[in-house]
Amino acid sequence: MLRTHTCGELNISHVGQNVILCGWVQKSRDLGGMTFVDVRDRYGLTQLVFNTDTDFGLRESARQLGREFVIKASGKVIERTSKNAKIPTGEIEIAVDNLEILNSSRIPPFLIEDETDGGEELRAKYRYLDLRRNPIRNNLVLRHRMAQEVRKYLDGLGFIEVETPVLIKSTPEGARDFVVPSRMNPGEFYALPQSPQTFKQLLMVSGFDRYFQIVKCFRDEDLRADRQPEFTQIDCEMAFITQEDILHIFEGMTRHLFKTVKDIHFGAFPRMQYADAMRIYGSDKPDIRFGMQFVELNDIVKGKGFGVFDNAELVVGINAKGCAEYTRKQLDELTEWLKRPQIGATGLVYCRYNSDSTLKSSVDKFYGEDELTNWAAAFNAEPGDLMLVLAGNADKVRKQLNELRLEMGNRLGLRKKDEFAPLWVLDFPLLEWDEETGRYHAMHHPFTSPKPEDIPMLDTAPGTVRANAYDLVINGTEIGGGSIRIHDRDLQALMFKHLGFSKEEAQKQFGFLMDAFEYGAPPHGGIAFGFDRLCSIFAGLDSIRDVMAFPKNNSGRDIMIDTPSTISADQMTELKIKTTV
Ligand code: AMO
Repeated sequence: MLRTHTCGELNISHVGQNVILCGWVQKSRDLGGMTFVDVRDRYGLTQLVFNTDTDFGLRESARQLGREFVIKASGKVIERTSKNAKIPTGEIEIAVDNLEILNSSRIPPFLIEDETDGGEELRAKYRYLDLRRNPIRNNLVLRHRMAQEVRKYLDGLGFIEVETPVLIKSTPEGARDFVVPSRMNPGEFYALPQSPQTFKQLLMVSGFDRYFQIVKCFRDEDLRADRQPEFTQIDCEMAFITQEDILHIFEGMTRHLFKTVKDIHFGAFPRMQYADAMRIYGSDKPDIRFGMQFVELNDIVKGKGFGVFDNAELVVGINAKGCAEYTRKQLDELTEWLKRPQIGATGLVYCRYNSDSTLKSSVDKFYGEDELTNWAAAFNAEPGDLMLVLAGNADKVRKQLNELRLEMGNRLGLRKKDEFAPLWVLDFPLLEWDEETGRYHAMHHPFTSPKPEDIPMLDTAPGTVRANAYDLVINGTEIGGGSIRIHDRDLQALMFKHLGFSKEEAQKQFGFLMDAFEYGAPPHGGIAFGFDRLCSIFAGLDSIRDVMAFPKNNSGRDIMIDTPSTISADQMTELKIKTTV
């Protein structure tokens, strides 16, 4: 080893020892007779001192050091006269007797400190420098820790980690596939897995009975703060289990992570039916760190001559506690915010419950004080509260009110990063109507089992069939999703039929799985966690990018290695790909 210690471990107990440290120059200060150099590695920072007792040549070398030079310094640990209580090594410094420059550095394009002056783009281009900064490095350390704890927990329960292939045939998870041309099979393509779904089911047929994998998945979809084109799942599957077993084991895993990584102890996670989540929060992933539940008003507001409410399928609102003081300007701004195309509300009705107990609404013409008192009762409102009401098509208006609820939650500081509210959402619908294609799609994926009692409704009312499918939501983010699977060939074939596959198409795409079901497929089910999302929630971050070592930007580009990029004409010819550009 070039060093005897790291830059984060020396303290007063080491005074008098001769040590060798290696690291990067964070900062150097030349105070005439004395030169101080802070040397940094991933463990911390230690101060080197070169004073009048130091050899003249050595002092000169110290003066020449630039930021981010890589150095090796040896010397004696001494007690500092002016101590720094903010860092663990702040009581000591090293009186250097030898200094070696292991490598020089160009001036870095941004400050490599906790607070940096580098913009996002610049930091992405020099990601390897950004990764030297504590906050980013700490996120990766946390990620490592979480991966270890996951492995420990699952290994302890007899799960076996099996690697599944990356060059596969497309799996229908709903996004587009990334494809890879095959040189040896001209004109044919592999697809990168959106998840190992079919393989883990085949492993159940093979008898593995408890499988997991921390695995890269690839989806060519529009990117957002919680979506990357390549991301990592904790992918799991079990045989001979019920839904309850899966919920129990993976709630246990989540609890284990909270306990070991964050020292937060949870009891049983709350559970909610999908239908209730949509009705009460307008979302299948409600953030239950705060209340502000939906209040439906149809019964008390209709038939009073206000056309907007009379003609609406649903009139529904939330109580923004303590917001009665909102000015007209603030309410107009909130209305405009709701009318943006991203949300698409037609308007906002409000009612202030003033601190003097008077009620004042934006629709006073239609609703007198008595009626508004009924509103206040429905909302459980108190003086000082503000009732915000939307009306329209039930599905649309619930989605819009969900956005408003989350926005008000943010404005009122109710979505605290250091508070965690896990929730199981259960009994998702099996199928979802797609306006664009005019047919049903599997809401989760086509291998999800309908609830046995709902199977007869597949023919009569497909939209109402519920699935044995569940999501784990934390703080309004979908962290994981899974289901009990179909393990019977006929039921799987029926499912494909309902999804609009011809017999031939189903056989061509999924024949391998349906065939496998004919060779003793056990009942099975599983779940996959979005590992990046889980890490970013634990780290209190808004984006999953900062828990990834080398993420892509919002256009799916890695600007550091400059990809995607064109390939040479020779490569194209070899792959038998013709360009049209
Ligand atoms: P699903 O499609 O719900 O299920 O994915 C599981 C979890 O993966 C995370 N996730 C993502 N994270 C980052 N970027 C993305 N683009 C992205 N897409 C999904 C989410 C999500 O909950 N095979 C099934 C699981 C199963 O049935 O067992 C599946 O992939 O946190």
